[in-house]
Amino acid sequence: MLRQALLGVSQSKKIKNLTTRAPIARDVVRRFVAGETADDVITATRTLSRSGLQVSIDHLAEDTWDTAQADAIVAAYLDVLARLSEAGLTSATEVSVKLTALGQQLADGEKIAFENAEKICVAARAAGTMITIDMEDHTTTDATLGIVREIRRDFPDTGAVLQAYLRRTEEDCRDLAMPGSRVRLCKGAYAEPGSVAFQDRQEIDLSYVRCLRILMAGQGYPMLATHDPRLIKIGQRLAADNGRAVDGYEFQMLYGVRPTEQQRLASIGHRVRVYLPYGTDWYGYLIRRLAERPANLTFFARSLISRD
Ligand code: FDA
Repeated sequence: MLRQALLGVSQSKKIKNLTTRAPIARDVVRRFVAGETADDVITATRTLSRSGLQVSIDHLAEDTWDTAQADAIVAAYLDVLARLSEAGLTSATEVSVKLTALGQQLADGEKIAFENAEKICVAARAAGTMITIDMEDHTTTDATLGIVREIRRDFPDTGAVLQAYLRRTEEDCRDLAMPGSRVRLCKGAYAEPGSVAFQDRQEIDLSYVRCLRILMAGQGYPMLATHDPRLIKIGQRLAADNGRAVDGYEFQMLYGVRPTEQQRLASIGHRVRVYLPYGTDWYGYLIRRLAERPANLTFFARSLISRD
């Protein structure tokens, strides 16, 4: 209930304006977001790399409503990729991209988003790395998977994301478990109706395990995006059962969430990639993180008090 309410709030322009103007919000943002500039994200990437972690950088932006805005987002990705390359950080760093940020919702949006994603793929390849295309709400799933399929013709290392809360996802896992296919499996972060998505946490977890079984038994490269201790253990067991070496899959976690566990997994030889967002448009991302865990609201409330 609380989760659905918070995700509903994320759509309110009025609340967004209030929150983003309040100086106290910045303290909470800092826990989950590397900073607002490319310099900030390069600094954070360097720190994470030095501690043995890999990184996926996300330039925060969603729901682009004009082509100039989409162009600016592409330019930001090209800039950060060039800086990563200069800093010698691309071997352990990829970028994550949202198609709605690249113009997917504009008139002729599929074509615009596809072309923009391709520009980022070209720059990523030149820099020595690759991209993963994030998954957004269920109304975009078919279009996003279609664009991933198209992009993979020229850039086969492009990562896809599947959400275990969607009832369709086992089927999508079967389609994507082919050689060379990088697939990030997450639970799913949007408010979705029961007609398309499991609502019960246990049902979502069970779906995650069924999907993971398919990916681990398949021929692709599974990327387990979860902080859930039970699912991490199950992932380790399924990898071993399927004879996968530690470079045959990876764990992924969000910046600021369970950092000690990120280090622990890396210290025992696992590949661990941290999803590292940066930019000024952090509102929707922050609300989804607060919705995932009621304790984050306490953290938010505490930061209000500590400012007084
Ligand atoms: P769950 O929410 O059950 O959390 C398990 C435990 O992890 C909690 O008990 C808590 O200890 C800790 N935890 C989880 N979230 C926390 C938080 N915000 N703050 C503090 N502790 C927290 N979603 C999507 O729809 N599309 C996408 O493209 C992506 N991409 C993505 C990339 C990566 C690398 C990750 C890790 C996640 C995503 N997600 C996503 C988000 C994902 O769908 C999901 O909402 C979150 O990962 C939370 O789910 P968990 O699997 O961690 O389980």
